[in-house]
Amino acid sequence: MSEKESVETSEAQIAVHWQEEEYYYPSAKFIAQANMTDETIYERFSLDNFPNCYKEYADLLEWYEYWHTILDTSDAPCWKWFVGGKVNASYNCVDRHLKDYKNKTAIHFVPELENEKTEHITYQELYVRVNEFAAILRDFAGLKKGDRVTLHMPMCAELPITMLACARLGIIHSEVFGGFSGRACADRIVDSQSRVLITMDAYYRSGKLLDHKQNADIALKLAEEDGQVVDKVLVWQRYAGKDSSPTPMVENRDYFVNDLLKDYYGARVDPVPIPAEDPLFLMYTSGTTGKPKGCQHSTGGYLAYATGTSKYILDIHPEDVYWCMADIGWITGHSYIVYGPLSLGASTIIYEGVPTYPDAGRAWRIAQDLDVNIFHTAPTAIRALRKIGPDEPAKYDYHFKHMTTVGEPIEPEVWKWYHKEVGKGEAIIVDTWWQTETGGFLCSTMPALTPMKPGSAGPALPGIHPVIYDEEGDVLEAGSGKAGNICIQNPWPGAFQTIWGDRDRFVSTYYERYNTDPNSKDWRDWPYLTGDAAVQAEDGYYRILGRIDDVINVSGHRLGTKEIESAALVCAEVAEAAVVPVNHDIKGKEPDLYIALKPGIDASDELAKKISDTVCDEIGKIAKPKGVWLVADMPKTRSGKIMRRVLASISNDKDVGDVTTLANPEIVTEIQEMMKKK
Ligand code: WTA
Repeated sequence: MSEKESVETSEAQIAVHWQEEEYYYPSAKFIAQANMTDETIYERFSLDNFPNCYKEYADLLEWYEYWHTILDTSDAPCWKWFVGGKVNASYNCVDRHLKDYKNKTAIHFVPELENEKTEHITYQELYVRVNEFAAILRDFAGLKKGDRVTLHMPMCAELPITMLACARLGIIHSEVFGGFSGRACADRIVDSQSRVLITMDAYYRSGKLLDHKQNADIALKLAEEDGQVVDKVLVWQRYAGKDSSPTPMVENRDYFVNDLLKDYYGARVDPVPIPAEDPLFLMYTSGTTGKPKGCQHSTGGYLAYATGTSKYILDIHPEDVYWCMADIGWITGHSYIVYGPLSLGASTIIYEGVPTYPDAGRAWRIAQDLDVNIFHTAPTAIRALRKIGPDEPAKYDYHFKHMTTVGEPIEPEVWKWYHKEVGKGEAIIVDTWWQTETGGFLCSTMPALTPMKPGSAGPALPGIHPVIYDEEGDVLEAGSGKAGNICIQNPWPGAFQTIWGDRDRFVSTYYERYNTDPNSKDWRDWPYLTGDAAVQAEDGYYRILGRIDDVINVSGHRLGTKEIESAALVCAEVAEAAVVPVNHDIKGKEPDLYIALKPGIDASDELAKKISDTVCDEIGKIAKPKGVWLVADMPKTRSGKIMRRVLASISNDKDVGDVTTLANPEIVTEIQEMMKKK
């Protein structure tokens, strides 16, 4: 392409340079037992049948009062689902299973220390503990329907017990990821106006017992400075009856739940029938800029969507043992550790610690010991496990029927390792694309119906109708293979209702961009902007390229950072790759490539050149990295996402900003030093 042409080509017209992959098909054995094998589901959930198709999801729940209006658009774009219905999430996740499954394990809690016993909580036991804690919330803490309460809890069985106790009374829970700081917790307390904080004294992480109670004291002090007073702190204990934190309790403010419980043994709290549209919880998105957004999720629509997608996409049956390795502090944990699996009566695993503690075989020992058959994790964890223990899965006797990947695009090389080694070639994989805001999956293959394609999220879910726009607001032809902004044309029950307390920001961030008439009450006029770039291939499958900002435009060629990273991973020596844009006078941007090598492999200029050549071979010279930086580790968030923003600042010689919230802040200086020397 000549220089002139490349300048004139509009971004969205540019094809993405990523090789098409072969399909993988589910086994006959998987299909024979799958929850959804009826191909007409796509037809039943077509736009012609929208919104009534979603009755199928609503009917997976038990309602106190059945709804009269499936979708009310009168307050566009704040959609209301299942209006007139009354439902309780705690009842649907606990009480309704007692008839058939009271003796079945609802939650397996696996402590990080291997010499501690796994706790198996039956549905009956869950029922008892949820009721007793609900009584404390109501009678001791004085909380009622519509109140917000902030939870700052690590991975423990008490976290879903707390969530379900809140849901029983219609109290809106706002769980803050346990690894977040007291500051982050304070911001969320203030924004949600919580006057009660529920926390835990301590928990294990990488073999260390961390003092978590100290964060509560920091959070309360900062929240008070910002005008929000918390009058009660309920503290769960890592070891019941024992205080494991050196941080003292504050009199008349801090209470150990285990002490309070003595007065509530045997208490029963009737589930409150909650209007479908009342909020179930808030989940703050960890935005890189601006104040975190409190995504408000509904009770009826959210629970119906989490339940339906858990049943049909995760293929959860009541007899399955299901393990999602995400943290409940993220949306994945809410929808797909707690609400979806428990609503279906499954056994769900909560693992306290890191998957590689004390060694690379830990995850697979847990899978073997609990006979897990459905496994769910993120590419970052898959890459880490591949990096430190590529041969570990084969040493353990477990068999997955189904595996999920979620959270970021997965490179085909990593996908293939996941399939062959972790899944032992037997498990199907679903690559599920969605967001905190969407409550549940948007794109994924249907496990028994549509074949898998490595690196591709697959088609949209039944009932989800995406559309890809170019920068000018024109719709790209379906299957064009061109990159653009992916939006969802229609509402769906799992979608968040608004940003807590900030409807204007909700509308402007997610709906204004492609809306043509702000007064319209027709959902067709309000495409939902996901903020991701994507390409739709001829077969209708979507490949998610990452956030719109993550797309690097080199000489008018739109290159997904993921494409380049994926190409680098073709080199056997590479464990992790991260690409960031570097400003360039003529080309606009150039990719800078950061690489973490597999253990035992030495960095050398030859190797850097080999990686650079591989990228050029895989994608073309256009993608040639400006530099290939072989680093000891990537800067990462506590949830394990690579902080490309930090790397981009380093590459562009800019201030890296506040890096104290990273899991490994020290690596930042190390990389800066290294680059100075070059
Ligand atoms: C990205 C996590 C590619 C995407 C559930 C999205 C993905 C953001 C995938 C939301 C996937 C999530 N393939 N990219 N399967 N899943 N993403 O809110 O950029 O933590 O917008 O929700 O993660 O992240 P969030």
